Amino acid sequence: MGRFFFIPRRLHFQPMTQAQTLARIRELTEALTEHNHRYYILDNPTISDAGYDALLRELQDLENQFPELKQADSPTQRVGSRPLSGFDQLTHSIPMLSLSNAMDEEELISFDTRVRKDLEIEQLDYVVEPKLDGLGVELIYVDGLFTAGSTRGDGFTGENITQNLRTLKTLPLRLRDDSLAIPSYLEVRGEVFMGHQDFDHLNQRQLDQGKQSFANPRNAAAGSLRQLDSKITASRNLLINLYAPGRIDNFSVDSHMDLIQALKDWGFPVNDQYELCPDIEAVIQFHRKLESKRENLEYDIDGTVSKVNRLDYQNRLGIRSRSPRWAIAGKFKARQEITKILSIVPSVGRTGAITPVANLEPVHLGGVMVARATLHNQDEIDRKDVREGDTVVVQRAGDVIPEVVKAILEKRPEGSHAYTIPDRCPACDGHVIRLEGDAKHYCQNISCPAQIKGRIEHFVAKRCMDIDGFGTKLVAQLVDTGLISSIADIYSLELEQLASLERMADKSALNVLEAIDSSKSVDLWRLVHGLGIRNVGEHISKVIANKYGSLTAMGKATVEDLEATHEIGPIVARGLVEFFRDSDNLVILDKLAEHGLNPTIDVSSRSEGMLSGLSFVFTGKLEHFNRDSARVLVESLGGASANSISKKTDYLVAGPGAGSKMEKATKLGVIILTEDEFRRMVGAE
Ligand code: IVH
Repeated sequence: MGRFFFIPRRLHFQPMTQAQTLARIRELTEALTEHNHRYYILDNPTISDAGYDALLRELQDLENQFPELKQADSPTQRVGSRPLSGFDQLTHSIPMLSLSNAMDEEELISFDTRVRKDLEIEQLDYVVEPKLDGLGVELIYVDGLFTAGSTRGDGFTGENITQNLRTLKTLPLRLRDDSLAIPSYLEVRGEVFMGHQDFDHLNQRQLDQGKQSFANPRNAAAGSLRQLDSKITASRNLLINLYAPGRIDNFSVDSHMDLIQALKDWGFPVNDQYELCPDIEAVIQFHRKLESKRENLEYDIDGTVSKVNRLDYQNRLGIRSRSPRWAIAGKFKARQEITKILSIVPSVGRTGAITPVANLEPVHLGGVMVARATLHNQDEIDRKDVREGDTVVVQRAGDVIPEVVKAILEKRPEGSHAYTIPDRCPACDGHVIRLEGDAKHYCQNISCPAQIKGRIEHFVAKRCMDIDGFGTKLVAQLVDTGLISSIADIYSLELEQLASLERMADKSALNVLEAIDSSKSVDLWRLVHGLGIRNVGEHISKVIANKYGSLTAMGKATVEDLEATHEIGPIVARGLVEFFRDSDNLVILDKLAEHGLNPTIDVSSRSEGMLSGLSFVFTGKLEHFNRDSARVLVESLGGASANSISKKTDYLVAGPGAGSKMEKATKLGVIILTEDEFRRMVGAE
């Protein structure tokens, strides 16, 4: 390429032939791609915005008229396409690893000492890059064409988010071949993230539309990338930088620096804040430099990543558990600011637990405005001696809730006094008590409106019943106006009642009712999780839903029965039995069932011979089994298990640290499962 791209708008004096149309579509596709690259990657545009838009519109028109002529790498795809009903899973051909951390400079030095000792060498080059605070993704190019992309997921399997990735303006839909050959197959990894300005604009837009704002740019990027409707992703201005190879066929480089150059040549956006460092001293200098630059960058970084430059050294060092031994993430210090505590207020959660929260004079902390910080419990307040009116140090590490580190005693105003959690609930005036050995205070009144709101908020939440449009505000309105007082009441709500609420348009009321209705067909584990049984989180909900198959069967289980289940201990077992014995809970479950909420799983279909005729091999570290228990499980279901891969093997179940078996399985075409996939297969999840 490298030609100067000027193509005039075509004047339609006479209709084009099919061949002419195709030629024009190709010409426009190529020109727009080139202009995109000049604008976003080279920062050197040679066309006006209006000129670009005119070409894009012409291409769009032609593609609409002749959909069969649309090119696979057409830039019109960046506006998004048809919404999906869900994401498929994509298994990474090489697992996506994570990085071990160095919390301070000393740990960077010991990393270097260890690496040089293992390699038995004196001097080592490192490449240091920013650790971008976004979402890891993998892109796949076949013969230079962007074909698929996925999230990192659990490192083994991610979600297929190809449609959404196509909308990223700097992601090349076709690789450039100016000076480098294009591999027939290329996987490349990088980070999708959101700039501060786009983050602020997005949050403003969310608030204007009465929607929840995002806590930080990373959550906003994650939420935007995991949209089923790629048009929403397209509207979010996500950025991407590439920094690591996956599987690449017929191509090799000697160093990470060469890889960076190759990525640039192919047209990928690469972060420009990297440096080649000849020793650990230089690494530390550059780490410090980036830390001081951090506030001025347009996006969040949460540290540096130092990588051994030479790839032969990387290979010799290899991998330990789930992270490479040739790279390390150097963490930045937690960001701290000084501000003032305006007041301390007790906040009541769905279990009645009371958490003291500090209302702060708003301060900018790591890219977001912080106006509240948790004080955890009475013991923490006493230990730190934090009071209303105090000037305090607050910090935020990653996306952890901000917390108060300490009070600056010299600035304490006169007449201040220690804070004590009140003995009456701020929401219902009920009794507040603290039991022996418990760090938390609890409101004792089960009809406490704050608890009711908390329980309902939990029930409708994304990880439970996932009722769209049912946010905190709506819950508060409905409970305060007395329209609902339990989770079961949600299903008796009528259109007029919803529409009568302040600031609720008819259309929104209708949407909420539809979302409520479709929640009736959720999977059993979501309902179990939504019930808010103590110590029963998402994972345990799945375990018991799979074992018992219905709420009725769960209600009949004894403590012994439950305890005999893999992963269920005595505390969870007792909590479950108590929940299903409580008459108030039974009334709610009956009401839910009356409304048609009684999902079941056919557990009888999990027959003894479900794996008969299938052969399994296990490798790597498994979280929920050891080799023996996995073998016993497979055999109990009629399958066979072996220690090594052969042509007879049907499945390889691979955990972290999987080595040569993985390669052999790939060669022989054996299906590779993650542990989670295997557990789903046998209904043990
Ligand atoms: S290299 C084998 N480079 O950090 C190592 N990762 O904790 C592969 N990350 O999942 C990753 N910036 O999402 C690498 N410059 C960078 C990075 C980076 C951010 C993320 C990545 C990875 C996580 C590891």
